[in-house]
Amino acid sequence: MLKKLIRKNDKAISIYLNERVENAQKEQLPDHIAIIMDGNGRWAKKRALPRVAGHHEGMQTVRKITRFANEVGIKTLTLYAFSTENWKRPKIEVEFLMRLPEEFLNSYLPELMEQNIQVRMMGNIELLPEHTKKAVTKAMEQTAENNGLILNFALNYGSRDEIVQAVKKIALDIQEGNMEINDITENNINSYLMTKDLCEPDLLIRTSGEVRLSNFMLWQLAYTEFWFTDTLWPDFDQECLIEAIETFQKRNRRYGGIKEEETN
Ligand code: FPP
Repeated sequence: MLKKLIRKNDKAISIYLNERVENAQKEQLPDHIAIIMDGNGRWAKKRALPRVAGHHEGMQTVRKITRFANEVGIKTLTLYAFSTENWKRPKIEVEFLMRLPEEFLNSYLPELMEQNIQVRMMGNIELLPEHTKKAVTKAMEQTAENNGLILNFALNYGSRDEIVQAVKKIALDIQEGNMEINDITENNINSYLMTKDLCEPDLLIRTSGEVRLSNFMLWQLAYTEFWFTDTLWPDFDQECLIEAIETFQKRNRRYGGIKEEETN
C-alpha cells in the first residue's frame, strides 16, 4: 500500500516537472548554462563518508543534469570540474578527481552518443595525467559530429590562466606582425579565449551556498545572470535546474541599457 502511494507520488512529481519544462520551453531558454558544482565534500561529511564519495556522487549528478539539460533544449552546459587551484588538494583527492572524467566517459559515452551530445573541454589539457587526457580526447573525437547539447568540461581551468595565455598569444601575434595594437577589440580578445567557439553563458549556477566565482569565466560572465542555491551538488536535481531556469526567465536583462518604456 505504501509502495503504491509512493509510486503515485513519484508520477505526480514527474507530471509536475514536465509541465514546468513545457512552460519554460515556451519562453526564452538560456542557451548556455555554466555551473560551479560545489558541495561534494560537505555532502560526504554529512554522511560520514570520505570526501571522494561526494565527488563520485557528484559524477552521477553530472550524468542526470546533462541528460535533462539536453532534453529541455539547453544548447551548452559548461561544468567546472577541476580548477587550476584544485591541485592544492590532498594527492589522494586529486588522483580521484582525475579518474572521474575517465570513469564518466567510459561508462556513459554510448549514452552521450545516443543523446547526440558533443563533449568538449576547456582548460590546460597538457598538464592532465595521460589517462585523463586520453579519455577526454577520445570522447571529444567520438562525439565531434554530434549536434545536440555541447557538454563543456572545465578541467584544469582557471580564468586568470586563460587570460594570461590569451594575452601572450596576442602579444606574439603583434610581435610577428600578424596584427596591430589597434586591432585589439573585445571581439578579438574573445577569439583568443578557450570559449572562442561558444556563446557567453546566459545563466551561472553555483551550488552549496557559496557566493563567489572562484576564478571561473571572469571575462565571459560579464552579463550573465547568477543563481545561487544552498543545495549541495550531489543533491542537485532536475527540479533545481528548472527552478534556476524559471528564475532566469523572470530576470530583466538590460546589458547596461534601459528599456524603451523607461526612457523618460
Ligand atoms: C567542489 O566541491 C567540487 C569539485 C572540486 C569537483 C567537482 C567534480 C565533480 C562534481 C565530478 C565531476 C565529474 C566529471 C564527470 C568530470 P568541494 O569538494 O569543494 O565541496 P566542499 O566545498 O563541500 O568541500
